[in-house]
Amino acid sequence: MRKFLGIITISVIIFSLSPALTYATPLPNRVVKYNERSEDVKNIQTALNSKGYNIKVDGVYGPGTKAAISNFQSKFSQLTSDGIYGPKTKAILEGNLSPNRSAPISNSNTLILVNKSNYLSKNHVPNDLRKVNLPSAAGKDQLRNISATALESMFKDAKKDGHTLFAQSGYRSYQRQTDIFNSNVSKYGRAKAETFSAPPGSSEHQTGLAMDLSSKGTGYALVEKFATLPEGKWIAKNSWKYGFIIRYPKDKTHITKYTYEPWHVRYVGKDAAKGIYERALALEEYLGK
Ligand code: DAL
Ligand code: ZN
Repeated sequence: MRKFLGIITISVIIFSLSPALTYATPLPNRVVKYNERSEDVKNIQTALNSKGYNIKVDGVYGPGTKAAISNFQSKFSQLTSDGIYGPKTKAILEGNLSPNRSAPISNSNTLILVNKSNYLSKNHVPNDLRKVNLPSAAGKDQLRNISATALESMFKDAKKDGHTLFAQSGYRSYQRQTDIFNSNVSKYGRAKAETFSAPPGSSEHQTGLAMDLSSKGTGYALVEKFATLPEGKWIAKNSWKYGFIIRYPKDKTHITKYTYEPWHVRYVGKDAAKGIYERALALEEYLGK
């Protein structure tokens, strides 16, 4: 009887400990990066999904997995946000730590790179946002002060040349971008949506340095037609003088990973804008990324 009870006791102990004991983590303890296909990648994808990501568990370390890793890493000061999985990322993925970092918000950094490999944290809110003093869409008309001032001066000079522009969409919070992106995914499917809409954290609009422009001629819509209108041509030719670039050029979609957006201007400062315009570069190329 005593032996029997002993066995029961031991079984109960083993049983109650088993979730912890048998959850031998399947995460690999090595570097895993872009393009790898393996069971290890599937385990990494499963772990990411358990952290709130929503990526396909297909065992392929493609752009979505890299972006999710990079986004995850960007939230922790212990990690470098390079999109490469390694033992340090493993340790944090396995832990239950709260994010302790938001991407640095610096008033001088107007060259911040935000794209499918460089995510901003949820908490990234520029600290010098203000409304632009321009014809604009209510509730979507904020920019960081430096870019707002530059945009105002650009609109003023465009007007002198006979062009009336409209500030359609400036700063967007992480949450707002989440709503926009999810709505695009439900309308078009994820793959298509990702060609023109940024997953949350990867939109330049969250930096407060980007504005989408429209005009009466486009019916106040964000459409390629903007590039063919006098006001769109004026922007393409002159925006660099005010420190703006056309962030998603027609011939750079393989680099930016977004379709052509003649309406999306991004403030980078006058020096960088001049260099980018003269050498016809994408921001990624200019920054050597
Ligand atoms: N349309 C740009 C890529 C964005 O969603 O930020
Ligand atoms: Zn835009």
